[in-house]
Amino acid sequence: MDVYGAVTSRRAVRAFTDQPVPHEVLQRVLCAAAWSPSGSNLQPWHIYVVTGAPLAQLKKLAVERVAAGDPWDESEYVMYPPALKSPYAERRAAFGKERYSALGVAREDWEARQRAAIANWDCFGAPAALFCYIDRDLGLPQWADLGMYLQSVMLLLRAEALHSCPQMSWAKVRKTVAEFVTPPNELVLFCGMSIGYEDVTVSHPRTGRASLDETVTFVEG
Ligand SMILES: Cc1cc2nc3c(=O)[nH]c(=O)nc-3n(C[C@H](O)[C@H](O)[C@H](O)COP(=O)(O)O)c2cc1C
Repeated sequence: MDVYGAVTSRRAVRAFTDQPVPHEVLQRVLCAAAWSPSGSNLQPWHIYVVTGAPLAQLKKLAVERVAAGDPWDESEYVMYPPALKSPYAERRAAFGKERYSALGVAREDWEARQRAAIANWDCFGAPAALFCYIDRDLGLPQWADLGMYLQSVMLLLRAEALHSCPQMSWAKVRKTVAEFVTPPNELVLFCGMSIGYEDVTVSHPRTGRASLDETVTFVEG
């Protein structure tokens, strides 16, 4: 698979089979992803990989917790500005509409949306997950480095016929995650990522993208 193939076939997959992901594959992907760039080569990512019985137990506790209506853990970072302005608000609304209509869930059916959201904490059935942390003393450029690293991981997973879903939703139950990975206090959980083989029997909409002229300006001579 070339880079174009990896980039265009990567998407947030939300239905995985239970086929285990071999440890050596994860190791190969994470070894290669370590070559991601970062400002001054800080390599600010701290990654925990969870599979097998610990992941099964983590999913169980997280799903039970959310299903019981437990309040989220207090946020350690702002996921979205409280008043999202145009064009981001429209893009977010379009994404929500597309996602919930694909699931046959009405926009105003809060309970059904909540049930669909709970699949996040079951890793959408995936047998492997990683959790990406960053030192709380680091700043915006280092958070951007995490994005580059995570995209490298997701593209390399495509080269291994694997799929992924990055998930900030795990930060909402960060204390439950911490029980399993026991990170040092100075680390903040940015996101989780479900990893596995796609369940191709589940259909899905392909998310759209803004046209190039909305996001790119060429200044050419
Ligand atoms: C940092 C980050 C966090 C995300 N968190 C979630 C999440 O918690 N749950 C989820 O289902 N999707 C999550 N997504 C997936 C996005 O919804 C998805 O990438 C976006 O809608 C574009 O769709 P695509 O990745 O399928 O092309 C996240 C993506 C990123 C980059």
